[in-house]
Amino acid sequence: MPEKRHLPLATEWAHHALAEKIRAGAWVLDATAGNGHDTLFLARQVGSTGHVFSFDVQEEALQETRQRLVDAKIQEDRFTLILKSHAHMKEALPMEVLGRIEAVVFNLGFRPGGDKRMATECSSTVAALTSIPTLLAPGGVLTVVAYPGHASGKEEAEAVSRWMSALAPERFEVQNIRAINRMQPAPELWLALRLGSG
Ligand SMILES: C[S@@+](CC[C@H](N)C(=O)[O-])C[C@H]1O[C@@H](n2cnc3c(N)ncnc32)[C@H](O)[C@@H]1O
Repeated sequence: MPEKRHLPLATEWAHHALAEKIRAGAWVLDATAGNGHDTLFLARQVGSTGHVFSFDVQEEALQETRQRLVDAKIQEDRFTLILKSHAHMKEALPMEVLGRIEAVVFNLGFRPGGDKRMATECSSTVAALTSIPTLLAPGGVLTVVAYPGHASGKEEAEAVSRWMSALAPERFEVQNIRAINRMQPAPELWLALRLGSG
């Protein structure tokens, strides 16, 4: 087997943590559909009895995501693609899923191959994060991959860091995985597990 020369990327760490936590049959949410890689990963994790809700503000992103799911033979009734900002996801979701979502995934920044001007923004990202305690089930996990390597990404990563750091430790367990010996900041992963039994 070829030797793997690097530690996992932030997105790979996120999938690793999510794979451990997501049950077959779960309701899960991708807050930034982009090219659909995370949505497909989530759809595979929850299996034929689960459901993925995916948000994006770009029509092209949702088209790309739909195509990826169709190509992977994911049935149409296993996912819902929503053309709306994640800042409004609480209002856009069916009432019965609130407090029962088992994973929420954010991959911030812009869609690779797409319009860089349509990157996530600090204010809507924080608005979306604010709805997380209402959305996540006890035992549910939130992952956020942030890109502090450029000015707006740095501001956004700092806002994510502030929001995560302020979560009450009796309600959420929080971790941050990042490279610490590089001159240029690398993508980083934030994880929050909702504690409690109901
Ligand atoms: C890095 S990409 C996501 C990658 C994606 N998860 C994947 O697996 O391919 C970030 C996406 O966030 C979307 N986005 C930007 N602002 C948004 C918002 N307010 N609400 C939802 N999506 C947003 C962009 O359109 C872009 O497609």
